[in-house]
Amino acid sequence: MTMPRILFGGDYNPEQWPEDVWAEDMKLMVEAGVSLVSVGIFAWAQVEPRPGEYDFGWFDRVLDHLADAGIGASLATMTASPPPWLSRLHPEVLPNRADGVTLWPGARQHYCPSSPVYREHAARLVEQLAGRYGSHPALRLWHVGNEYGCHVRACYCDVSAADFRRWLRDRYGDVDALNAAWSTTFWSQRYDDWSEVLPPRTAPTFGNPAQKLDFARFSDDAILACYTLERDILRRHTPDVPLTTNFIGLVHKPIDSFRWAAEQDVVSLDSYPDPYDPRTHVDAGFGYDLVRSARRGQPWLLMEQAPSAVNWRERNAPKPPGVMRLWSWQAVAQGADAVLFFQWRQAAGGAEKFHSAMLPHTGEHTRTHREVRELGAEIAAAAELAGTRVQADVALLHDWPNWWAVEGDAHPAPLDLLAAHRAHYGPVFDAHVTCDVVPPDADLAGYRLVIVPNLYLLSTATADALRAHVHRGGILLVSYFTGVVDETERLHPGGAPGPLRDLLGLRVEEFWPLPVDGTIGLNLGGRHGRGLEWSEWVEPAGAQVMGTFTDGELTGRPAVLRHSYGEGAAWYLATRPDPALMRAVLDQVRAEAGVAPVLPDLPDGVQAVRRHGGYRSYLFLLNHGGTPATVALPAPAVDLLGEQDAPTDLVTLPPRGVAVLRS
Ligand code: GAL
Ligand code: ZN
Repeated sequence: MTMPRILFGGDYNPEQWPEDVWAEDMKLMVEAGVSLVSVGIFAWAQVEPRPGEYDFGWFDRVLDHLADAGIGASLATMTASPPPWLSRLHPEVLPNRADGVTLWPGARQHYCPSSPVYREHAARLVEQLAGRYGSHPALRLWHVGNEYGCHVRACYCDVSAADFRRWLRDRYGDVDALNAAWSTTFWSQRYDDWSEVLPPRTAPTFGNPAQKLDFARFSDDAILACYTLERDILRRHTPDVPLTTNFIGLVHKPIDSFRWAAEQDVVSLDSYPDPYDPRTHVDAGFGYDLVRSARRGQPWLLMEQAPSAVNWRERNAPKPPGVMRLWSWQAVAQGADAVLFFQWRQAAGGAEKFHSAMLPHTGEHTRTHREVRELGAEIAAAAELAGTRVQADVALLHDWPNWWAVEGDAHPAPLDLLAAHRAHYGPVFDAHVTCDVVPPDADLAGYRLVIVPNLYLLSTATADALRAHVHRGGILLVSYFTGVVDETERLHPGGAPGPLRDLLGLRVEEFWPLPVDGTIGLNLGGRHGRGLEWSEWVEPAGAQVMGTFTDGELTGRPAVLRHSYGEGAAWYLATRPDPALMRAVLDQVRAEAGVAPVLPDLPDGVQAVRRHGGYRSYLFLLNHGGTPATVALPAPAVDLLGEQDAPTDLVTLPPRGVAVLRS
């Protein structure tokens, strides 16, 4: 799906307002440069006030207004929040938590994903919508559901239990195979009959890890089935209208975005960086790199962001002047072809009345609305960026099933996979190097450096792919607690890193997690620092020791290792070096891989990314730092956001400044 321009707009919930406000909405939207709005996301109760009785008249008028104003609709399937009558008539559609508590109506997303009743009612509504609006001139995109898995990540009710058994039967065939996969000889868990198998409900102590992992896989599948049910109806009616569903940013544990991306025409992401956090743009950057990689570099849509403050954190900071613009351009730099917000008009009532909007409660003559208009005009003027792509030489490997497994309980110490990703991704970002975030089955052929943090769950197929990458000359960096178990949570025989032992040239004999807030001394070729969180007793078997522990029981033992293999080399970190040392390690492996920054000598705090298309290339420079920054360009270029007729070879960016340079 290629857009003729970078789309601009946001969620629009006209049902919250009397009709006489809509005309003003259209006028102000046009003035602000809005080209796409997401409509109907929470309109189910309004369009189907009673089962099977529809009131589409008002919604027809909304879409007609949009078409008249030349604004496109990202038309929601309206199934994200069922009307109260559904659970009144069918209480079994309500989801259950692991401890048996029912999640009642009164908020949103109160449905069991496995519920045939929910699915049937959702499908019936989607048939209506597709039939009625499939050829409406405003329709540009289908917005299926909304933030699947946001609040209800899994359901433990009896309906879900039956669906889980069906799913397990498909996967294992018979109970004996299930028993083997789940290691049920342990703690007398052997099942004699399918009817004994349950979701991992609240139990006296640690649950079976293989059962939990399969339940995470199943829950993702159950939610995905709700999506594909609607998707298939829409594809039947409107095969030419692209469809998406918005992922939760930066990455959302219950939903495997890599699998879901393959089921969509374009991927979209909701992103809410926290203005209180000075590194929040790096975390956002990780999410953008992941969502872009999910469809192998295809442009993606920033479906939601806040114009200023959100209302759902404990404390909610507004975005200071210029930050909304800076972060919007960051998304475009990292491959977005849409800058959309939650939401157009600030709600006057309900649980989100303190959430900022493009049109604040205080009206159009406001700081936020002025910034929205200015951004809308800039985005409109940068239409030529649409469809261009970002390329990366570095990939960081992320895997959802590993995420579900590595954070399981009763491990040597709790690990936070996103924190590990952050620790590895941050120094690459800071070094002005573009990084893809890819699944284990990605084609690694185009990458010079592959980074693999904490890949506890490792299949032999993934191990083979990593081995092939190094064999043909690639560089690999793997960090601790990798290659520990297979896909059924059984330990790889012979110890970690399991099927990577030959490639890494080492064996991990014991895990030595550090005490809470404890650190361990590290010497990396004369450079001293601390290891954080974890350490390991490693026995080299071919690998060269590049760094050692300098403290405690592991003093003198290997902490950083490098193993030449085929045409390339594989590095191993037996701890998480502190940020400065991690930067040094990553700079070293990056240099070995021959990966250069986007431009040499870029100032700290300036993010630089390129998008390419045809014979053109665009360099984005974004100053996330607090002081002005000057960047020397290799050749004079035109800033799309500046004086178009004055090419420059020296760009000075104020704090929060942005330049988009065409070359
Ligand atoms: C998203 C959601 C929107 C709105 C927004 C507020 O999670 O999709 O409907 O609630 O958050 O930040
Ligand atoms: Zn359920």
